[in-house]
Formats: sequence, C-alpha cells, structure tokens
Amino acid sequence: MGMEIVASAPGKVTLFGEHAVVYGEPAIVASIDKRVYVKCKPRKDNIITISALNLNVPGIILTIDKDGEIKLETDYGKVLSAVSYIKEAIKLTQEFLDIKYGAEITISSEMPVGAGLGTSAAVAVTTIAAFAKSHGYDLNLKDIARLSWQTELKVQGIASPMDSTIATYGGFIYLRYDGKDFEFENMKGVGELPLVIGYTRRLYKTGEMVAKVRRLINRYNQLGGDLVKLIGRVVELAKKALLTNDLKTVGELMNINHGLLDTLGVSTKELNDIVYIMRGFGAYGSKLSGAGGGGVAIGVAPKRRMREIIAALKLIEATPIETSIGGKGLKIGKLKT
Ligand code: MEV
Repeated sequence: MGMEIVASAPGKVTLFGEHAVVYGEPAIVASIDKRVYVKCKPRKDNIITISALNLNVPGIILTIDKDGEIKLETDYGKVLSAVSYIKEAIKLTQEFLDIKYGAEITISSEMPVGAGLGTSAAVAVTTIAAFAKSHGYDLNLKDIARLSWQTELKVQGIASPMDSTIATYGGFIYLRYDGKDFEFENMKGVGELPLVIGYTRRLYKTGEMVAKVRRLINRYNQLGGDLVKLIGRVVELAKKALLTNDLKTVGELMNINHGLLDTLGVSTKELNDIVYIMRGFGAYGSKLSGAGGGGVAIGVAPKRRMREIIAALKLIEATPIETSIGGKGLKIGKLKT
C-alpha cells in the first residue's frame, strides 16, 4: 500500500491589491517560476518525519558591532515556521480523508521561504496533495486549495484565500473574497509581463502586518476604509491594463498601489529603496508585493532595462530574483520504485 510521491507548487507575486483583499476588495496575483517541492513516502505507523533540504534561508549570521560585541542572528525561525505549515496541512488532510497513517516528508524550495513569495501556501498545497496521493487518494484542486487555506488560517490566524489559490492553480488570478467565501477567475488574456523582483530581509510575519493594518483601519475608521477602497479601484484599472498589455499603465498603477500600501504602514525603508531604484533605472513602475515589513518588491520594466536594474539592486544589497510569471500551478508525480 502507498507510493512515493513528489509534488511541487509555485510561489507568487501579488501584482495588485494585497491587504485590501482582506477587506473585500479584489486582488491580482501571478505564479512565479520558482517552486516548493515536497517528497512524501507513506508510513505504516502514525509517525511523521520532516527533513528540510534547502529552504533558501540564510543560516547563522555573526557580526561584530562597533563595541566589539559579537552578535548572532539566525533565520531558523522561518524553517520552524515552514514545519508548522507541514504539520497542520497533514493533520487537516488526515481528518478530511480519515487517514490514520503518517509519512516521511522531505521539503525543498527554489526561493527564500517567508519572504512574501507565498511559500507558506506552496508548502501547504504540496504537502496536502502529496500526502493524500501517497495514501492512494486523488484530491481535486478545489479541496487542495481549501485545505491549504485552512492550514494558513490555523497557523497564521488571518489569511485570504489568495496565496493558496494561486499556488494550486497557477497563472494570473483575479480574486475577490468577502470574509467567508471567495470567487476567482483565471485571467487567460494577460500578455508577456517583464517583471523583476528584489528581495530584502523580512522582519515581520504576514499575520503581524495584517494586524498592523487592522489597527490603523480601526483607529481611522472612515479614512482607513477609503484607502482600502482606493486600492480596489486601482486593481480594477490594472485588470484592464493587464488584459490590453498596456505596460506603461500597469507600471503607473503599481506606483499608485505602492503609495497606498506605504500609507497603510506596511512598507519599509529597504522596500522603498528597491522600489525607487527600480523606477530610477527605467522601470515603468514598482511596488512592494505581499504583506510587506521587508520581503519583496516587484517592478515592470522594458526588457532592455532589466540588466541595469538587476545590477543596481545588487549594489543596494537587495537580492534580485529573475523569474517569468504566469506558469503552472500544482504538479504531482509518482516516483518510480
Ligand atoms: C499576503 O501575501 C497578502 C495579504 O493580503 C494577506 C492575505 O491576503 O492573506 C497581506
């Protein structure tokens, strides 16, 4: 009984509408060509083992400060966080399918985890699909996306279904969520979108950033609501611009979206540096992407400008990530035995 399975799912960039999506406004997300991989071997007992091969997190950083003190920093919290998503994803899948057995899970990632690229959702989607299949169940995509969203809700408290939907289906997705149910469409007509990503250390978790925005909105009720609605209007205009491949307008709308996110308090100096460097070196427009508080910013730029933008990002110590977008969602395969 049981078979060894490998599943992979893509990371994502939020092109427009993060944070406002939590308050019922639409958002547009795209998959990237960096993926999370999970290998799953079923067990005959109920034990679960997890090996993390490569989660692209910096290891231990030692620095000596100006007083000669040695300081130690580590990103292993992010590895532990990935493990909590795996644990929860397996628990929910076991309950849903009434599986009593465990599994040996091996995980690796082509992108940094916890950077705002949707790795948590990709981890959940791949774990759920691989675990179910390894025990002989073919879950449909809808159930995989739903269980993955539930996993995110359990681990981080607040989450829209945006990340789990894009990790499952891939492509370009326009999504709207009313706090309970959601609907989405796959934007099939989006043309080529030359995109560049800059990554800087993420200091806060998604849940913390969502809570920060919530505090601001509660404090400035009407104003907060207006800001969120404005983001929604940007998203509607961006949808049209994306479908007509009007890259200049897409860029300008990214700038407006970034300004509004900065106003909501989720940008940082490092993210703003990335955003302005991209614009300074010829991007049509740029914005932070994801929950903010560090993490990634994206820019749309003419292809001929990409090389310079990437070089400039390296100079300000932001890690450039080159990727195409809009590729496939979940992939699943059997390992030959
Ligand atoms: C995080 O990738 C995007 C947020 O809108 C939160 C969410 O939608 O769950 C900030």
